[in-house]
Amino acid sequence: MLPNEVLHWLDPKPGQVVVDATVGGGGHAALLWDRLRPEGTLIALDQDPAMLANAQKRLPDPRINWRQRNFEDLPSVLDELKITAVDAILADLGFCSDQMSDATRGFSFHNDGPLDMRLDPTSGEPASNLIRRLSEKELADIFYLYGEERHSRRVARRIVEARQKTPIATTGHLADLVRSCVPRSKGHSIDPATRVFQGLRIAVNDELGALERFLQVVSECLRPGGRIAIISFHSLEDRLVKQAFRKGTEWCKELTRKPVQASDAEVRDNPRARSAKMRVAQKHPV
Ligand SMILES: C[S@@+](CC[C@H](N)C(=O)[O-])C[C@H]1O[C@@H](n2cnc3c(N)ncnc32)[C@H](O)[C@@H]1O
Repeated sequence: MLPNEVLHWLDPKPGQVVVDATVGGGGHAALLWDRLRPEGTLIALDQDPAMLANAQKRLPDPRINWRQRNFEDLPSVLDELKITAVDAILADLGFCSDQMSDATRGFSFHNDGPLDMRLDPTSGEPASNLIRRLSEKELADIFYLYGEERHSRRVARRIVEARQKTPIATTGHLADLVRSCVPRSKGHSIDPATRVFQGLRIAVNDELGALERFLQVVSECLRPGGRIAIISFHSLEDRLVKQAFRKGTEWCKELTRKPVQASDAEVRDNPRARSAKMRVAQKHPV
């Protein structure tokens, strides 16, 4: 996502220390490493062990520091590596298409699989647990706030009725329930289950909480003059980033007055890029 824009704004140079906080498929990491090597340092994090392993296969360079961690733990990762501050940080939020297309991960309403949705499958609660134990109101709030689903109450009611008969343990079961009570919007090809699945994924992974905690620690991780770029896909994420960079004026200056968006050519190749917004801030020099 936004590959040229990331390189332009972070401007990584040979020998610098850079963090890719969400390495995913390794696309950005490959570009960054190309600029940094051989003396530079790339620290590559992902909370999903499968994505980290894939990226490691794609970039089999033993000099890269791979860590399976949540990005909110960046200060302790830097401590472990005995690095006091870094030149640049990139966070490209959300999930990757590889995670979506693997039915066993439970993100997809197209392929039936266990209703899991954890980015780190070794910790936290799978989505099926939330669907089983949350109240109708709590579920409706998740679908409305994180999924922006207008029919959130209707969906929550349908789920609560259905779970009294049988547990909702698969993506197919949940998607069918949503489709049975949310009308397909006219003229749009989007599946009626899209927004409910998005809301649930954000809740399962506490994505907004992790982003808030990350934004609180980045200033201590950057060297004076260092830069951070965050690519978000959801208006609530973008709002948190915008507030942190504006409110944080005592430690940083937002370099992008308006969020950077993908070019028409990138959106043609990858429709998901349409909703990507990148903001960049620079820590004040001492
Ligand atoms: C959009 S993908 C990143 C794509 C990557 N920039 C590339 O070029 O391939 C987002 C990745 O961030 C990871 N992720 C999401 N939230 C995270 C968090 N709080 N800490 C660490 N990794 C996270 C996901 O597991 C996923 O692999």
